[in-house]
Amino acid sequence: MTKVVHERVVIVDYGSQYTQLIARRVREHHVFCTITTPDVERAELHEPGVKAIILSGGPSSVYGDDAPRLPDGLMDVQVPILGICYGMQLLSQHFGGKVEASKEREFGRRQIELVNEDVLFQGTPKQQDVWMSHGDQVKQLDQAFEVLAKTDTCPWAGVRHKELPIYAIQFHPEVHHSDHGKRIIGNFLFDICGCKGDWQMSAFIDEQIAKIKESVGNRKVICGLSGGVDSSVAAVLVHRAIGDQLSCIFVDNGVMRLNEGVEVEAAFKEHFHMDFHSVDASEKFLSQLAGTDDPEKKRRIIGHLFIEVFEEKAKEFDDVGFLVQGTLYPDVVESVSVRGGPSQTIKSHHNVGGLPEKLGFELIEPLRDLFKDEVRAVGRELGIPEVLIGRHPFPGPGLAVRILGEVTAEHVDLLQKADVILQEEMRTEGIYDEIWQAFCVLLPIHSVGVMGDERTYEKACAVRCVNSTDGMTADWYPMPYEIMAKISNRIINEVRGINRVVYDISSKPPATIEWE
Ligand code: XMP
Repeated sequence: MTKVVHERVVIVDYGSQYTQLIARRVREHHVFCTITTPDVERAELHEPGVKAIILSGGPSSVYGDDAPRLPDGLMDVQVPILGICYGMQLLSQHFGGKVEASKEREFGRRQIELVNEDVLFQGTPKQQDVWMSHGDQVKQLDQAFEVLAKTDTCPWAGVRHKELPIYAIQFHPEVHHSDHGKRIIGNFLFDICGCKGDWQMSAFIDEQIAKIKESVGNRKVICGLSGGVDSSVAAVLVHRAIGDQLSCIFVDNGVMRLNEGVEVEAAFKEHFHMDFHSVDASEKFLSQLAGTDDPEKKRRIIGHLFIEVFEEKAKEFDDVGFLVQGTLYPDVVESVSVRGGPSQTIKSHHNVGGLPEKLGFELIEPLRDLFKDEVRAVGRELGIPEVLIGRHPFPGPGLAVRILGEVTAEHVDLLQKADVILQEEMRTEGIYDEIWQAFCVLLPIHSVGVMGDERTYEKACAVRCVNSTDGMTADWYPMPYEIMAKISNRIINEVRGINRVVYDISSKPPATIEWE
């Protein structure tokens, strides 16, 4: 097969919290891009198909001892370069400019004024709001550059090299508070770099299917299905490629949502006609969890047992060569960053509920280049029902991290009943898709209540609803009072054993989304 060379933008990550946003913005223009670290091999920058290089922002100061530098070989590339924030400062320094800590840290919305016309800003107003987030800024710029935009306190908010296709901006066009950021990135991609913008999900699917067929041949593949969006889309995609050579295993760990197993089975066995195998290991999980109330211990027990049960089941299949994993691009970037790059944001617990590489199968990770919203787009294109695609994220350790204290069958039952009410009401009220993640938490306390004429002394339940883009930060969702009231009334009236409902109004940070 001849290898098609696709256009691609390479983003060099200097540790900014916005690096992944740059990638998303580029892809929104249907231009494929990858994120790499400053120590990227020069060969990667020179690969055919690379149309541009974007240098991200970052927390370092260019004069710091360990400050990350421009990649080797960057200046020999023949393609345009855009430096953003720290990326700009590195470029200015390289060309003999001076960078200093500014007297005033600029953070938040600022207005820039365009002072020289350039294609980078074409179609945007002379005065416009942008998002700034920096301590250092360029204080002196080499003659080789001309200024395109400034603010009151930042004389070089946007510049270009007079002869080379090198652009640098101090603000963050990738953040949506930069009113014309999308247009500026589009101008760079299409008018400066000559990108075509022909990266489409349907083409991506066809390409992945061909790739999977070629690497699998006539061997067997297994997939651990959790019912979550990622593993579901990965499984359906692989099934499209190789049909019944794929077998899916669903492990019921006893801490799932009410009827989860039945619904997942209905979707994959009946709707998609897949070779689906369910293992009911709930008793095993609950008996090992008995007596444990430490959150980390609970996570470990569930993580280990899941692998054990999965491995045992997998032995029933002959000639299995491959394992499908729903790994997404943010996971790939995080693990790359942890190995070498500056954005060290990984949380170990996010692997709980996953499978280790040591299982001895080759991995098929068809989604490893995609962000969550792109995975959803692939899922829709594959005809996966919207109720599955739009599902809120659900953690690997399931309800066990939402039952504070010991996990018992009785606690699981209480929480499942409360949670189903929350899910139903969000759907009925039409707010489910407005919320990133919503769930109930069973608290390990009793409080006094009164029902009819009787005193009650029962458990309390917290309702946690948050909005987020990636789970790294989150804001609590301001749920309309009448909906809150309805949910609270229904839980207290319908779930015997809960007599109090509270609403969690903590953001992340400093709280986390899950309570454990
Ligand atoms: P926290 O609680 O760290 O959660 O703010 C951030 C996001 O990650 C999910 N989460 C997990 N997902 N395995 C998972 O697959 C886990 O062990 C795990 N712990 C937390 C959480 O639901 C939220 O979406």
